[in-house]
Amino acid sequence: MTSKQGFNRDIKIAPSILSADFANFGLECEAIEAQGCDWVHVDVMDGHFVPNITFGPQTCKAIRPHIKGVMDVHLMIAPVDPYIEAFAEAGADVITAHVEAGPHLDRTLQAIRSAGCRVGVALNPATPAEAIEFVLDRIDLICVMTVNPGFGGQSFIEAMVAKVARLRALIGDRPVHIEIDGGVTAKTAPLVAAAGADVLVAGSAVFSGGSVATPQVYGQNIRAIREAAVAAIRAEKAA
Ligand code: DX5
Ligand code: ZN
Repeated sequence: MTSKQGFNRDIKIAPSILSADFANFGLECEAIEAQGCDWVHVDVMDGHFVPNITFGPQTCKAIRPHIKGVMDVHLMIAPVDPYIEAFAEAGADVITAHVEAGPHLDRTLQAIRSAGCRVGVALNPATPAEAIEFVLDRIDLICVMTVNPGFGGQSFIEAMVAKVARLRALIGDRPVHIEIDGGVTAKTAPLVAAAGADVLVAGSAVFSGGSVATPQVYGQNIRAIREAAVAAIRAEKAA
């Protein structure tokens, strides 16, 4: 069952620490939270499911005390089931697994729930919205990949806007977030916000130009994305 407690569709900005200083995750997480982000997005890559390697549960555990809010763990790994417990123990609030990561998605989602975490499911760009139609009552979040996962700084794939709209219709009144991951900027955020997304992951667009020594740049970047998204929702409602 999904939990309705505290659920809302307000825009949430989730900086991806894939674009942070890897030697300084603790202070980077503290800086983005102090500058007004809502969630912290943590990209786990295995060099097998995606062509890049980042880090595992021990790093997540080490950064957990530096995050006051939601730690949103995006697992780009296959297989995923053997590692769910470790990421839950590391303090993940949300664990997101990919539809494409294994043959038994329903079992994976149940395992995330049993581990005590909020349940996310991610769709690669070529995966249709309907792939999650029969697990909608098991999930709290759908992550729409708007780039092919593996690297930060790629260009937003515009065809995904229609997928977001289709997912929003499929969700109906269920308390399920739509998260966008990849190429989110103040220019692309309005497109997905108007289509029904509420969690916006942004790596390069948040971290570029700033550092823990100049965190106010992070704040400006976060505000620019949020304001563009909120304005698009207002315009959509007024239309
Ligand atoms: C891509 C990751 C994303 C990525 C987003 O594989 O899942 O979270 O870091 O980075 P930007 O915002 O730079 O596209
Ligand atoms: Zn991600």
